Amino acid sequence: MSMLSSRGLGKHFGGLQVLHDVNLEVPGGAIFALIGPNGAGKTTVFNLVTGLLRPSAGAISFEGQDLAGIAPHRITRLGIARTFQNIRLFPDMTLLQNVMVGRHHLTNYSGIAALFALPSFREAERRSRERALELLSWVKLDHKAESTADNLSYGEQRKLEFARALATEPKLLLLDEPVAGMNSTEKAVLMEEIRNIRDRGYGVFLIEHDMRFVMNLCDRVAVLNFGRIIAEGAPEEIRNNPEVIEAYLGRGDEAEVLP
Ligand SMILES: Nc1ncnc2c1ncn2[C@@H]1O[C@H](COP(=O)(O)OP(=O)(O)OP(=O)(O)O)[C@@H](O)[C@H]1O
Ligand SMILES: [Mg+2]
Repeated sequence: MSMLSSRGLGKHFGGLQVLHDVNLEVPGGAIFALIGPNGAGKTTVFNLVTGLLRPSAGAISFEGQDLAGIAPHRITRLGIARTFQNIRLFPDMTLLQNVMVGRHHLTNYSGIAALFALPSFREAERRSRERALELLSWVKLDHKAESTADNLSYGEQRKLEFARALATEPKLLLLDEPVAGMNSTEKAVLMEEIRNIRDRGYGVFLIEHDMRFVMNLCDRVAVLNFGRIIAEGAPEEIRNNPEVIEAYLGRGDEAEVLP
Protein backbone atom coordinates (compact mmCIF):
# COMPACT_ATOMS: atom_id res chain seq x y z
CA MET A 1 0.00 0.00 0.00
CA SER A 2 1.27 3.49 -0.72
CA MET A 3 2.05 5.87 2.12
CA LEU A 4 0.81 9.01 0.42
CA SER A 5 -1.73 9.16 -2.37
CA SER A 6 -3.60 11.77 -4.31
CA ARG A 7 -6.83 11.21 -6.21
CA GLY A 8 -8.05 13.59 -8.91
CA LEU A 9 -6.01 16.40 -7.40
CA GLY A 10 -6.63 19.77 -9.04
CA LYS A 11 -5.48 23.30 -8.28
CA HIS A 12 -6.18 26.64 -9.88
CA PHE A 13 -5.05 30.13 -8.94
CA GLY A 14 -7.84 32.35 -10.20
CA GLY A 15 -8.13 31.49 -13.90
CA LEU A 16 -4.81 29.66 -14.01
CA GLN A 17 -5.33 25.90 -13.83
CA VAL A 18 -2.02 24.60 -12.49
CA LEU A 19 -2.84 20.95 -11.69
CA HIS A 20 -5.35 18.66 -13.40
CA ASP A 21 -6.50 15.27 -12.13
CA VAL A 22 -3.21 14.33 -10.49
CA ASN A 23 -3.14 10.77 -9.19
CA LEU A 24 0.00 9.80 -7.29
CA GLU A 25 0.94 6.78 -5.22
CA VAL A 26 4.03 7.47 -3.13
CA PRO A 27 5.30 4.30 -1.45
CA GLY A 28 6.80 4.15 2.04
CA GLY A 29 10.45 3.10 2.51
CA ALA A 30 11.38 4.08 -1.05
CA ILE A 31 12.62 7.08 -3.03
CA PHE A 32 9.95 8.55 -5.29
CA ALA A 33 10.65 11.46 -7.66
CA LEU A 34 8.32 13.97 -9.25
CA ILE A 35 9.99 15.51 -12.27
CA GLY A 36 8.85 17.89 -14.99
CA PRO A 37 9.73 21.13 -16.76
CA ASN A 38 9.77 24.51 -14.98
CA GLY A 39 6.31 25.66 -14.00
CA ALA A 40 4.78 22.18 -14.41
CA GLY A 41 3.23 22.39 -10.92
CA LYS A 42 5.66 20.28 -8.87
CA THR A 43 6.11 22.62 -5.91
CA THR A 44 2.36 23.19 -5.89
CA VAL A 45 1.93 19.46 -5.24
CA PHE A 46 4.20 19.78 -2.17
CA ASN A 47 2.28 22.85 -0.99
CA LEU A 48 -0.97 20.91 -1.22
CA VAL A 49 0.44 17.85 0.57
CA THR A 50 1.82 19.95 3.43
CA GLY A 51 -1.39 21.95 3.82
CA LEU A 52 0.04 25.33 2.75
CA LEU A 53 -2.51 25.33 -0.07
CA ARG A 54 -5.95 23.79 -0.35
CA PRO A 55 -6.85 21.65 -3.35
CA SER A 56 -9.45 22.99 -5.79
CA ALA A 57 -10.44 19.39 -6.53
CA GLY A 58 -9.65 15.88 -5.40
CA ALA A 59 -8.14 14.49 -2.22
CA ILE A 60 -4.84 13.59 -0.60
CA SER A 61 -4.41 10.88 1.98
CA PHE A 62 -1.48 9.93 4.19
CA GLU A 63 -1.43 6.44 5.70
CA GLY A 64 -5.10 6.18 4.88
CA GLN A 65 -6.05 9.47 6.55
CA ASP A 66 -7.67 12.20 4.46
CA LEU A 67 -5.62 15.41 4.77
CA ALA A 68 -8.46 17.74 3.74
CA GLY A 69 -8.63 20.82 5.95
CA ILE A 70 -5.78 19.71 8.22
CA ALA A 71 -3.45 22.56 9.26
CA PRO A 72 0.23 22.42 8.24
CA HIS A 73 1.57 21.90 11.80
CA ARG A 74 -0.81 18.96 12.27
CA ILE A 75 0.31 17.46 8.97
CA THR A 76 3.89 17.71 10.29
CA ARG A 77 2.79 15.80 13.38
CA LEU A 78 1.22 13.10 11.26
CA GLY A 79 4.70 12.48 9.88
CA ILE A 80 5.35 14.60 6.78
CA ALA A 81 8.37 16.94 6.72
CA ARG A 82 9.74 19.03 3.89
CA THR A 83 12.58 21.21 2.70
CA PHE A 84 12.01 24.21 0.45
CA GLN A 85 13.27 25.07 -3.02
CA ASN A 86 15.09 28.08 -1.49
CA ILE A 87 17.18 27.39 1.59
CA ARG A 88 15.47 28.54 4.77
CA LEU A 89 17.85 28.43 7.70
CA PHE A 90 18.57 30.71 10.65
CA PRO A 91 22.05 31.95 9.68
CA ASP A 92 22.95 33.40 13.10
CA MET A 93 21.97 30.29 15.02
CA THR A 94 24.20 27.26 15.53
CA LEU A 95 23.66 24.08 13.59
CA LEU A 96 22.38 22.44 16.74
CA GLN A 97 19.85 25.23 17.33
CA ASN A 98 18.72 25.08 13.71
CA VAL A 99 17.96 21.37 14.09
CA MET A 100 16.35 21.76 17.51
CA VAL A 101 13.90 24.28 16.03
CA GLY A 102 12.49 21.37 14.05
CA ARG A 103 11.77 19.53 17.29
CA HIS A 104 9.83 22.15 19.19
CA HIS A 105 6.43 20.69 18.49
CA LEU A 106 7.61 17.37 19.96
CA THR A 107 8.65 18.61 23.38
CA ASN A 108 5.73 18.25 25.74
CA TYR A 109 6.86 20.07 28.87
CA SER A 110 4.74 22.97 30.06
CA GLY A 111 5.63 26.65 29.89
CA ILE A 112 5.87 26.71 33.68
CA ALA A 113 8.37 23.84 33.65
CA ALA A 114 10.47 25.74 31.10
CA LEU A 115 10.25 28.97 33.07
CA PHE A 116 11.58 27.40 36.25
CA ALA A 117 13.91 25.02 34.39
CA LEU A 118 12.28 22.09 36.19
CA PRO A 119 13.80 18.61 35.81
CA SER A 120 11.11 17.63 33.30
CA PHE A 121 12.16 20.55 31.11
CA ARG A 122 15.87 19.86 31.47
CA GLU A 123 15.38 16.19 30.67
CA ALA A 124 13.32 17.00 27.57
CA GLU A 125 15.95 19.51 26.46
CA ARG A 126 18.72 16.99 26.98
CA ARG A 127 16.96 14.32 24.94
CA SER A 128 16.11 16.79 22.22
CA ARG A 129 19.73 17.92 22.04
CA GLU A 130 20.97 14.35 21.90
CA ARG A 131 18.64 13.51 19.03
CA ALA A 132 19.60 16.71 17.19
CA LEU A 133 23.28 15.74 17.48
CA GLU A 134 22.49 12.27 16.23
CA LEU A 135 20.70 13.70 13.18
CA LEU A 136 23.64 16.03 12.54
CA SER A 137 25.90 12.97 12.63
CA TRP A 138 23.70 11.25 10.04
CA VAL A 139 24.56 14.04 7.61
CA LYS A 140 28.14 14.26 8.95
CA LEU A 141 27.84 17.76 10.36
CA ASP A 142 28.04 16.91 14.07
CA HIS A 143 31.62 18.23 14.30
CA LYS A 144 30.22 21.68 13.42
CA ALA A 145 27.26 21.54 15.81
CA GLU A 146 28.31 24.69 17.68
CA SER A 147 29.24 26.87 14.70
CA THR A 148 26.69 29.16 13.14
CA ALA A 149 24.86 28.16 9.96
CA ASP A 150 26.26 31.10 7.97
CA ASN A 151 29.69 29.42 8.06
CA LEU A 152 28.50 26.47 6.01
CA SER A 153 29.11 25.80 2.35
CA TYR A 154 26.09 25.58 0.10
CA GLY A 155 26.10 21.78 0.12
CA GLU A 156 26.38 21.74 3.90
CA GLN A 157 23.43 24.13 4.25
CA ARG A 158 21.31 21.71 2.22
CA LYS A 159 22.37 18.87 4.50
CA LEU A 160 21.52 20.94 7.57
CA GLU A 161 18.02 21.57 6.19
CA PHE A 162 17.74 17.87 5.67
CA ALA A 163 18.66 17.19 9.32
CA ARG A 164 16.19 19.80 10.50
CA ALA A 165 13.38 18.21 8.49
CA LEU A 166 14.27 14.85 10.05
CA ALA A 167 14.12 16.45 13.49
CA THR A 168 10.33 16.59 13.25
CA GLU A 169 10.51 12.74 13.30
CA PRO A 170 8.69 12.27 10.00
CA LYS A 171 7.84 9.07 8.19
CA LEU A 172 7.91 10.78 4.81
CA LEU A 173 10.41 13.44 3.78
CA LEU A 174 9.60 15.88 0.96
CA LEU A 175 12.66 17.43 -0.70
CA ASP A 176 12.15 20.25 -3.22
CA GLU A 177 15.16 20.30 -5.56
CA PRO A 178 17.67 19.11 -2.97
CA VAL A 179 20.72 19.28 -5.26
CA ALA A 180 19.93 22.51 -7.14
CA GLY A 181 23.08 24.64 -7.32
CA MET A 182 25.36 21.89 -5.99
CA ASN A 183 28.59 20.80 -7.62
CA SER A 184 29.00 17.16 -8.60
CA THR A 185 30.91 16.23 -5.45
CA GLU A 186 28.20 17.73 -3.24
CA LYS A 187 25.54 15.93 -5.29
CA ALA A 188 27.26 12.58 -4.85
CA VAL A 189 27.42 13.14 -1.08
CA LEU A 190 23.75 14.08 -0.83
CA MET A 191 22.72 11.13 -2.99
CA GLU A 192 24.43 8.85 -0.50
CA GLU A 193 22.72 10.59 2.44
CA ILE A 194 19.30 10.20 0.82
CA ARG A 195 19.93 6.50 0.20
CA ASN A 196 20.92 6.10 3.84
CA ILE A 197 17.71 7.80 4.91
CA ARG A 198 15.62 5.45 2.78
CA ASP A 199 17.54 2.47 4.15
CA ARG A 200 16.68 3.65 7.68
CA GLY A 201 13.02 3.16 6.70
CA TYR A 202 11.92 6.67 5.74
CA GLY A 203 9.89 7.39 2.65
CA VAL A 204 11.47 10.05 0.43
CA PHE A 205 9.45 12.09 -2.08
CA LEU A 206 11.62 14.47 -4.06
CA ILE A 207 11.34 17.02 -6.84
CA GLU A 208 14.42 17.36 -8.96
CA HIS A 209 15.59 18.68 -12.32
CA ASP A 210 18.89 16.83 -12.40
CA MET A 211 18.02 13.75 -14.45
CA ARG A 212 21.22 11.88 -13.80
CA PHE A 213 20.60 12.27 -10.08
CA VAL A 214 16.97 11.14 -10.38
CA MET A 215 17.71 8.15 -12.61
CA ASN A 216 20.52 6.90 -10.39
CA LEU A 217 18.76 7.40 -7.09
CA CYS A 218 15.03 6.87 -7.36
CA ASP A 219 12.93 3.72 -7.13
CA ARG A 220 9.90 5.26 -8.93
CA VAL A 221 9.45 8.40 -10.99
CA ALA A 222 6.35 10.36 -11.99
CA VAL A 223 6.43 13.04 -14.67
CA LEU A 224 4.32 16.18 -14.52
CA ASN A 225 3.86 18.28 -17.66
CA PHE A 226 1.59 21.35 -17.74
CA GLY A 227 -0.08 20.14 -14.55
CA ARG A 228 -0.82 16.60 -15.74
CA ILE A 229 0.91 13.33 -14.93
CA ILE A 230 2.10 11.97 -18.27
CA ALA A 231 4.09 8.97 -17.05
CA GLU A 232 4.84 6.98 -13.92
CA GLY A 233 7.18 4.03 -13.50
CA ALA A 234 10.67 2.74 -12.84
CA PRO A 235 13.51 5.07 -13.99
CA GLU A 236 14.22 2.83 -17.00
CA GLU A 237 10.64 3.10 -18.27
CA ILE A 238 10.61 6.85 -17.78
CA ARG A 239 13.91 7.36 -19.57
CA ASN A 240 12.58 5.59 -22.67
CA ASN A 241 9.05 7.04 -22.66
CA PRO A 242 8.51 9.01 -25.90
CA GLU A 243 6.01 11.41 -24.32
CA VAL A 244 8.50 12.25 -21.56
CA ILE A 245 11.32 12.84 -24.02
CA GLU A 246 8.98 15.07 -26.04
CA ALA A 247 7.95 17.05 -22.95
CA TYR A 248 11.58 17.87 -22.21
CA LEU A 249 12.85 18.32 -25.75
CA GLY A 250 9.78 20.32 -26.72
CA ARG A 251 10.80 23.05 -24.29
CA GLY A 252 14.22 23.36 -25.97
CA ASP A 253 15.82 23.44 -22.54
CA GLU A 254 19.09 21.62 -23.01
CA ALA A 255 19.89 21.55 -19.31
CA GLU A 256 16.94 19.24 -18.84
CA VAL A 257 17.57 16.78 -21.68
CA LEU A 258 17.53 13.22 -20.41
CA PRO A 259 20.97 11.59 -20.19
N1 LIG B 1 0.55 30.89 -4.84
C1 LIG B 1 0.46 31.00 -6.16
N2 LIG B 1 -0.34 31.93 -6.74
C2 LIG B 1 -0.43 32.04 -8.07
N3 LIG B 1 0.21 31.26 -8.94
C3 LIG B 1 1.03 30.31 -8.46
C4 LIG B 1 1.20 30.13 -7.04
N4 LIG B 1 2.08 29.10 -6.83
C5 LIG B 1 2.42 28.69 -8.07
N5 LIG B 1 1.80 29.39 -9.04
C6 LIG B 1 1.92 29.17 -10.49
O1 LIG B 1 1.66 27.80 -10.71
C7 LIG B 1 2.50 27.28 -11.74
C8 LIG B 1 3.26 26.09 -11.21
O2 LIG B 1 4.17 26.53 -10.23
P1 LIG B 1 5.09 25.54 -9.41
O3 LIG B 1 5.92 26.39 -8.50
O4 LIG B 1 4.26 24.49 -8.80
O5 LIG B 1 5.98 24.91 -10.56
P2 LIG B 1 7.26 23.95 -10.46
O6 LIG B 1 6.96 22.76 -11.29
O7 LIG B 1 7.65 23.75 -9.05
O8 LIG B 1 8.36 24.84 -11.23
P3 LIG B 1 9.95 24.97 -10.98
O9 LIG B 1 10.56 23.75 -11.59
O10 LIG B 1 10.32 26.20 -11.73
O11 LIG B 1 10.18 25.08 -9.51
C9 LIG B 1 3.37 28.44 -12.19
O12 LIG B 1 2.76 29.01 -13.32
C10 LIG B 1 3.32 29.39 -11.02
O13 LIG B 1 3.53 30.71 -11.43
MG1 LIG C 1 9.27 24.25 -7.93
